[in-house]
Amino acid sequence: MATATWFFFSFLIFVSASADTSKNVTDNPADKLVSVLNSNRTAHKLSALADNPGLACIALQYIKAFEGNCDDVGGSNAKKPAESEFTDTFAPKCGVQASTLTQITGRLLGCQSKYLHPAEAFSDLLIENNRSLEILYSKNHTEVGAAVSGTDGGSPYFWCVLFSNGKLNSSFVLESGAPKITGTGCFSGANDECSGANRSQRRMWPYATGVLIAVAYAFGL
Ligand SMILES: *[C@@H]1O[C@H](CO)[C@@H](O)[C@H](O)[C@H]1NC(C)=O
Ligand SMILES: *[C@@H]1O[C@H](CO)[C@@H](O)[C@H](O)[C@H]1NC(C)=O
Ligand SMILES: *[C@@H]1O[C@H](CO)[C@@H](O)[C@H](O)[C@H]1NC(C)=O
Ligand SMILES: *[C@@H]1O[C@H](CO)[C@@H](O)[C@H](O)[C@H]1NC(C)=O
Ligand SMILES: *[C@@H]1O[C@H](CO)[C@@H](O)[C@H](O)[C@H]1NC(C)=O
Ligand SMILES: *[C@@H]1O[C@H](CO)[C@@H](O)[C@H](O)[C@H]1NC(C)=O
Repeated sequence: MATATWFFFSFLIFVSASADTSKNVTDNPADKLVSVLNSNRTAHKLSALADNPGLACIALQYIKAFEGNCDDVGGSNAKKPAESEFTDTFAPKCGVQASTLTQITGRLLGCQSKYLHPAEAFSDLLIENNRSLEILYSKNHTEVGAAVSGTDGGSPYFWCVLFSNGKLNSSFVLESGAPKITGTGCFSGANDECSGANRSQRRMWPYATGVLIAVAYAFGL
């Protein structure tokens, strides 16, 4: 009996210890995207950008505003959330203090029917033309936030990168110190593990696979 109990507890300890070591910031596709983006910038002699979890959480809300409709991202039917949504919807959902909202200096948004690895999402989806390169290499940015999500954890996958010229400690500040976790999707900067972008494949995208849509905006908010 004592042996069985001992065995049981050491098993528990073993499990929790291994869970701890597997908790690694890099186990999050949004963090990986920021890391790819920053190494690309530094390779071009530009500063690495601070990863701001409040801004990244807002990037995830930005994605959710598209309600899974890839068609709304680019092309002739392109839609864009109203600027007022940043203050009225996105910030409150994340618990970002309204007074700390700072100018967005660039946005990259892409949608893909199949899951890409972060490095591919960066080079094949998000950075696909001169305009997005110009935004990537802008000296106006000081911080970044990235998010990836399927609407309910499945296809299609949206990737969003928001850039800002704020200071890390005084922009997109979270009321509670940590962002509210809302449903599926992953965002960068919060030191959490996440593979929510892959959670299920329930919803199949009704178009040919391999279709991808991306847009880049220089300004906003
Ligand atoms: C996370 O994992 C990667 C590779 O698996 C490793 O190189 C890195 O050092 C780990 N980081 C931390 C903070 O444990
Ligand atoms: C940075 O990313 C762009 C777009 O994907 C690519 O063309 C370029 O080669 C990358 N630079 C480095 C140093 O990886
Ligand atoms: C756009 O990119 C192409 C190659 O990627 C380059 O030849 C061209 O000069 C660029 N155009 C502008 C306006 O930057
Ligand atoms: C940087 O900011 C300045 C002034 O706000 C603006 O005129 C310029 O177009 C911006 N550059 C980029 C690449 O967005
Ligand atoms: C941000 O705040 C932390 C602690 O609150 C501090 O250690 C850090 O130096 C600050 N960073 C900047 C850029 O002000
Ligand atoms: C998502 O699933 C695909 C295959 O189902 C796999 O190749 C990929 O590595 C997974 N990605 C993550 C972030 O778990």
